[in-house]
Amino acid sequence: TEGPEIRKGLAGVVVDVTAISKVNPDTNSLLYRGYPVQDLAARRSFEEVAYLLWHGELPTPEQLAEQIAVERAHRALPGNVRNAILELPTTCHPMDVVRTAISQLGAHDPDAEDSSPEAEQSKAVRLWAVLPAAVALDQRRRRGQQIVEPRDDLTYAENFLWMTFGEEPEPAVVRAFEVSMVLYAEHSFNASTFTARVITSTLSDLHSAVTGAVGALKGPLHGGANEAVMATFAEIGTADRAAAWLDDALAHKRKIMGFGHRVYKHGDSRVPTMRATLDDLVAHYGRQDLLDLYVALEVAMTERKNILPNLDYPAGPAYHLMGFDTPMFTPLFVASRVVGWTAHVMEQRAANALIRPLSEYVGPHQRDLPCPPASA
Ligand code: CMC
Repeated sequence: TEGPEIRKGLAGVVVDVTAISKVNPDTNSLLYRGYPVQDLAARRSFEEVAYLLWHGELPTPEQLAEQIAVERAHRALPGNVRNAILELPTTCHPMDVVRTAISQLGAHDPDAEDSSPEAEQSKAVRLWAVLPAAVALDQRRRRGQQIVEPRDDLTYAENFLWMTFGEEPEPAVVRAFEVSMVLYAEHSFNASTFTARVITSTLSDLHSAVTGAVGALKGPLHGGANEAVMATFAEIGTADRAAAWLDDALAHKRKIMGFGHRVYKHGDSRVPTMRATLDDLVAHYGRQDLLDLYVALEVAMTERKNILPNLDYPAGPAYHLMGFDTPMFTPLFVASRVVGWTAHVMEQRAANALIRPLSEYVGPHQRDLPCPPASA
């Protein structure tokens, strides 16, 4: 007798509707609320894109000013959360720090248990506003540097870089960073977003949903890949060694980080924009050697496997050039994707059904307990 059809990894399964973003793998396109992501990345700020994802429309100047005012007013970490971060060992992964910080922020949030749409929107903006401080603090403490306080005269992207590096960033770097934030912000029912929706579906709170999502994003098959790309580059060394390294890695059945995608099989819609941004950074920092390595591995991977890069492939080296330490890359992804996660939390809550699938049991048949019981 045939059992039920099982779709491992829910591959190809449509689990719900969403109005937030549309991924079309046939045309390699990604729309945020109907707008092509590459157009948003080229012509809109991350603040505007965040508003769009949450509210469904681009903001009017007044709406944008209001959201920016709230964001700038909530950039500083509450003292107790700052202290909690400082108590974590620097041997732990930075994703553990950001995950813990979000959980702590939830515990201290007076509206934590209020799931009205107004409270959810307010919590989403405040969480988005404060995460750069958590990530920047973690980067600095790991380098033994003093904490840099946020500034409210800078944009989101400028202030993030300011708090991380303690100096006013150059416009070219701000632009590159902002493009990456826009590209990472949302991507339909990926593993971490689905996690956030599963948690929300039990009527749990927004911070719990985002904390769980961070856990899902940490893995190298998802967000952790952007860090893993730099580890790969470090292992390879120089462009001339890329093809031989790849042959050996594939012979050992290794997954090549930053390549492949569950949905896109003919290329990731976000890669051309991020690649152009990486090219700009390479020119800005005079690091053609890094781009040569990037291209050499991509060419070899295309020749051997015809598997194309995903967004993490250009994002990893871009963050490296900006000056972030490799383990900080996935927390940067968190700081952006928190917008998408919280938009999905609100969408899930607005039309909720408990997410509770079934499984096909393959364990032992029913049997009797041995008698007498085994005694020690
Ligand atoms: N390196 C080597 N082989 C690969 C890779 C890769 N990166 N990706 C896919 N393949 C092979 C895979 O081994 C399989 O071969 P075979 O049919 O011979 O067993 C075939 O291609 C199909 O792959 P799959 O693993 O069944 O596909 P999937 O849809 O389950 O996996 C993926 C998607 C992203 C998990 C996978 O491509 C992967 O592990 N990539 C590396 C990690 C990575 O870059 N993740 C970032 C994903 S996108 C951005 C993000 O979410 O952060």
